[in-house]
Amino acid sequence: MKKETGLKTIILAAGQGTRMKSVMPKVLHRIAGRPLLEHVHGLAAALGSEDITIVYGHQGDKVRQQLNHLKTNWVEQREQLGTGHAVMQVSDALDDEQTVLVLYGDVPLLRKETVQRLLAVPNDNTLGLLTVVLRDPSGYGRIVRNAETQRVERIVEENDATPEEKDLSEVNTGIMALPGLRLKKWLSELDNTNAQGEYYLTDVVALAVEDGCRVDAIEVLDEDEVLGVNDRIQLAHLERVLQQRQARALMAAGVTLADPSRFDVRGEIVLDGQDIEIDINVIVEGTVSLGRNVRIGPNCVLKNCTVGDHVEIMANSVIEDASIGSSSRIGPFARIRPGTELGDHVHVGNFVEIKKSVVNSLSKINHLSYIGDSTVGSRVNIGAGTITCNYDGVNKSRTVIEDDVFVGSDTQLVAPVRLGRNSTIGAGSTITKDTPEGQLSLSRSRQVSVKGWVRPRKKGS
Ligand code: UD1
Ligand code: CA
Repeated sequence: MKKETGLKTIILAAGQGTRMKSVMPKVLHRIAGRPLLEHVHGLAAALGSEDITIVYGHQGDKVRQQLNHLKTNWVEQREQLGTGHAVMQVSDALDDEQTVLVLYGDVPLLRKETVQRLLAVPNDNTLGLLTVVLRDPSGYGRIVRNAETQRVERIVEENDATPEEKDLSEVNTGIMALPGLRLKKWLSELDNTNAQGEYYLTDVVALAVEDGCRVDAIEVLDEDEVLGVNDRIQLAHLERVLQQRQARALMAAGVTLADPSRFDVRGEIVLDGQDIEIDINVIVEGTVSLGRNVRIGPNCVLKNCTVGDHVEIMANSVIEDASIGSSSRIGPFARIRPGTELGDHVHVGNFVEIKKSVVNSLSKINHLSYIGDSTVGSRVNIGAGTITCNYDGVNKSRTVIEDDVFVGSDTQLVAPVRLGRNSTIGAGSTITKDTPEGQLSLSRSRQVSVKGWVRPRKKGS
């Protein structure tokens, strides 16, 4: 019977990543909006690791600084003398009773289920390797098996391999799971007498076999899971793979995507209902929750927002840090900025910008307006070209528009100002004083007509 052991995960992230051609450390490059290393850490956490150690090196300060929110032990590898050397940095902290899982900080798409298959392998006398069969194995360590028993005997690195060994197509992914007690011993036996003068973690396989231990290979069938990022071409490839996975999960959950390859989630979508339709080129960032029957038109960007049932967001709208009540209609070409709360049945039309404002139910702001730092009541109609003048160059002031107000077109509301309940503002007004309930207020120069006036004519004609 397999005894229960705790899990220690070591994430190797000290390598330099020169092929990224970047001043930024490789593991800080992002897919789906999150650093590569954060994806790997998330996996380690999801597996229920008792502790997670990140071995960092190259530009480690930047890595630690940017990821200091992660619950993890940071261990520095000052010189990068190989994967074995990297794990040696953790040697003293290895617990005899723990299973040790080694992950790479630049391999972000491993599935939890795959690692769980691997973690079922190790015990006191057995270690597990994650392997993959590749049509082109070049660059990888090859898995060498005993010709008769077919058991794994050792791993040979590309640079140390004979031509026959180079023909082997089963390769080491680098991901392995080992018994802590044994690993400590094997690490102490590693040397660097090889083509690269490095301490290879892969040499623990031969040492294990020498000690009479068993090495079980778990094969990964989906190659993308174990792909690492070495350059920006691979980064873009993994981005697409991850986006396709996310898109498929959403479709499986009842979301219609016009084209799953033209839809990006850099964060998380929370589905509060079914029959959501999303058109092409929509980008979701942060946490976005969508209600029942929500329709999102093409080219919209939604970041950290809540969208109620039956809402339609039309083409080219941008919504950030806001909430939208049910049955509201936004866009096309609307911009809803942080701190905005829209009630139910609100209409916000084209070229309307709303910032840090509350707009209550059934109100309409349909064309070409700016509403900032405002409270707008229910059933308010705001005409085209209305501007809240909320900023005097130094301070921001609030505008309050009470229920049932009608604001005529091309009006400036100079804050602080309050429009009383049911008041009407004549078009073209500049409102600088509070308006009384139920009355028409306007500020507009009188229209005059000049009798007998003649249009100027071109001279000489
Ligand atoms: C390694 C494996 C190889 C496997 C391949 C899979 C060894 C000796 N070889 O080769 O069998 O097929 O991965 O991609 O293990 N790292 C450190 N410190 C170091 C060196 C590396 O932290 O001193 C980290 C890197 O940041 C990276 C990982 O270890 O995340 C793998 O390093 P890399 O140089 O890519 O290993 P390979 O030589 O490609
Ligand atoms: Ca590599």
